[in-house]
Amino acid sequence: MEVDAETLFNALGKRHEDAYADSPGLVQVTEYVLSKLSRGSHVLDVGCGTGKPVAAALASAGHAVYGIDVAENMVKIAGSQVPGTFSKADMRTYTPPVKMDAVFAVYSLFQISPSDVHKVVYRFAEWLKEDGILVLGVAPSSALTARNGVHDPVWDCVRTEQTWMERPVYELYFSQTAWLNVLREAGFVIELERMFDYIPNDPKHTRLETHYLIVGRKWEPHPLLGPYPLPDGRRGKSMRNESAWGQLQGHLRVTNDERTKLSSVLEVHQRVLDIGGALKDFLGQESARNKLVETLPSALINLLYPDARFEAVIATLILDYIDDLRGFLLEVVRVVNKSSSNARVILIQGAPYNEVHKLMNTMCTPLSGKNAGPAHQGLLLHSASKILAEMGFGRTSLHPLSTSYSFNEDSSSDRSNKLAEMFQNVWFTGEEKYEQMKQQLVFPIENLLHDHPGFIQNDLVIMEAVPDGN
Ligand SMILES: C[S@@+](CC[C@H](N)C(=O)[O-])C[C@H]1O[C@@H](n2cnc3c(N)ncnc32)[C@H](O)[C@@H]1O
Repeated sequence: MEVDAETLFNALGKRHEDAYADSPGLVQVTEYVLSKLSRGSHVLDVGCGTGKPVAAALASAGHAVYGIDVAENMVKIAGSQVPGTFSKADMRTYTPPVKMDAVFAVYSLFQISPSDVHKVVYRFAEWLKEDGILVLGVAPSSALTARNGVHDPVWDCVRTEQTWMERPVYELYFSQTAWLNVLREAGFVIELERMFDYIPNDPKHTRLETHYLIVGRKWEPHPLLGPYPLPDGRRGKSMRNESAWGQLQGHLRVTNDERTKLSSVLEVHQRVLDIGGALKDFLGQESARNKLVETLPSALINLLYPDARFEAVIATLILDYIDDLRGFLLEVVRVVNKSSSNARVILIQGAPYNEVHKLMNTMCTPLSGKNAGPAHQGLLLHSASKILAEMGFGRTSLHPLSTSYSFNEDSSSDRSNKLAEMFQNVWFTGEEKYEQMKQQLVFPIENLLHDHPGFIQNDLVIMEAVPDGN
């Protein structure tokens, strides 16, 4: 049984620093970043370990250092030897107290799932100021010998089970291209790359390792509208089978924390139009009932309501299936009461790292003869925000929303087959290559269920647009 990061690094403590802190390649890259930062910058070290060498170098140069690590022991050691604010936190759920000038994540991304790697890179981008610097320290899949590991086609990474510092670990290795891609997709330009060999200074762990350091500069102001670069236009028509969609939505789960986030966006609204019918899935029947909600199961080109009827219109995961986005938004804006101080248009689409969309678009869309599958979600939201701004709803904000599709944990061999069919039936029902698609989906679904047993992540983005004057 592999050990998780928290257990592993609580046990290793100082031994890790002794083995790895003397890396000339890492010191050089840290010096390069230091030369780009003005004194007193805010810098975050994600998976800071004992704080040496990175956080220590940043603190010595006069920067305000924040460090997080999932292993309590590492946090204690870092706090005892480096000036800064160190806390025990998981990078997947942490939110920094201020916007950062630089974020370092050095050798701390091996033990989270591929979609979480994508997700945290977008999170790092969100945490940075405009022009902020991201430093990733990783190991490329080319460093692995051909035998150890299984390639995951959805994320272009190799999943391995191996022994590291005498412990069994489950680790992830993206290819060099996949690393560069995820940074660019989250809106970074690549400023520097260094690949070098390193032999840890440890009597029991002397194997040669290849380390890869990448420095990216934040370029796109809205990472959640990615993946970048945005395509010129839509790939083709996206279609969805509404009854299969309804069945999938029956598995939707939202944690109380995430529900609170959504409720706070909607809190102030009295009269809400819910296009897509997702509000009850998100908020639960009970809380949805407290509001004056009218529900339309799908988007109509003419909304059959008088002008200014609602304070808020919320439309969830439907922009893909609308032919005339401008016409639709014109109708939405028409039925919102712009004179209300609570007037809002709320659009919810998939996050750029949404597991279901990535799964479908990698494994099924290329085989489909007639359906483009889920569209580029960032492009849809980007286009919608431009149109809404022209219509006077120019103040937009974006918030991530984590939801999941939950399935019972029965481990029968045909579970992945059933899930493959459930997802396929939403977008690719009746396709000529239906069976081939299904075969291709089974293994990646098993991988996802290995990453998080019992559910598939369904990360979303809420875009809130408010009238200019409000
Ligand atoms: C290989 S060590 C690297 C430490 C330090 N960055 C360095 O370069 O020496 C990886 C560190 O990342 C931490 N880590 C792993 N997964 C994490 C997560 N999900 N959130 C926060 N820290 C994590 C581990 O506890 C460990 O201290």
